[in-house]
Amino acid sequence: MNRLQDRVVLVTGAARGIGLACARAMAREGARVVLTDLDDAGCQRAAGEIGPRASWLRLDVREEADWSRAMARVVGDLGRLDVLVNNAGITGFVPPAPPGPQDPEFASLEAWRYVHATNLDGVFLGCKHAIGAMKPPRGRGGSIVNISSRSGQVGIPHAAAYASSKAGVRNHSKSVALYCAEKGYGIRCNSVHPAAVLTPMWDPMLGEGAEREKAIDELGREVPLGRMGRPEEVADLVVFLASDESSYITGAELVIDGGVLAGSSAQRPPRE
Ligand SMILES: NC(=O)c1ccc[n+]([C@@H]2O[C@H](COP(=O)([O-])OP(=O)(O)OC[C@H]3O[C@@H](n4cnc5c(N)ncnc54)[C@H](O)[C@@H]3O)[C@@H](O)[C@H]2O)c1
Repeated sequence: MNRLQDRVVLVTGAARGIGLACARAMAREGARVVLTDLDDAGCQRAAGEIGPRASWLRLDVREEADWSRAMARVVGDLGRLDVLVNNAGITGFVPPAPPGPQDPEFASLEAWRYVHATNLDGVFLGCKHAIGAMKPPRGRGGSIVNISSRSGQVGIPHAAAYASSKAGVRNHSKSVALYCAEKGYGIRCNSVHPAAVLTPMWDPMLGEGAEREKAIDELGREVPLGRMGRPEEVADLVVFLASDESSYITGAELVIDGGVLAGSSAQRPPRE
């Protein structure tokens, strides 16, 4: 409790999934959390459920004007910004993303750009505007947490744009970290690399009912720890990176994947 007492936090893509879990966890630690998303109804519902420490704003991470407006509102209403969680992300597999393959041979340029606009341009814009808000004397430094993916560290043949965009997030986080260190802004920036975390992002790939349970079980078998991750587990890591407990960590990439990236020869735990 109180590890983020009175910190002002903005989370993108906070209406559901990992973003919502981060918003909940940070409010529980005493932060004042601004939930943002494209999904107005979901965002409003989530903020209401978290309670008085939470508020919400519409923010399409692809739109620079939205970032300018959001930063002005947060600094105007809450005095400053201490933490930004660049969480919003898409796979490119579901509408309104352009339909079609996502492999390196047949993906359309439109589909490629669509995924990068949210996953990479959105993170670039978030970092840019957060630096402006957090740097002294307007701000007092802070922590930027960029949600990348294990897919930013390995190739994904049939989700090439997703993997490329997440690799971009991984690298850009280091540029931001070094730039802010060089400038003496007191702003840290790190990337988080989850894999197989059970959120609504997976719904289109899991099916319904018994088929869904089977698919979740099968995905879990691919993970050395033998199960999919929970959004709350990612949120715990994000709270750590947002808090002073990580004051000497910047430009780092933290993997949270049940062991997936550790190698390919682990024995999976037996199933009853
Ligand atoms: N779930 C996983 O297994 C997993 C693994 C690795 C990385 N990630 C990353 O974690 C992040 C969160 O994933 P999730 O599983 O919670 O996804 P999710 O689909 O459940 O939630 C994503 C949220 O982002 C919002 N969003 C999408 N485009 C937006 C935009 N342009 N502007 C603002 N908000 C937008 C959506 O409305 C949604 O509320 C993503 O960046 C994702 O790539 C997830």
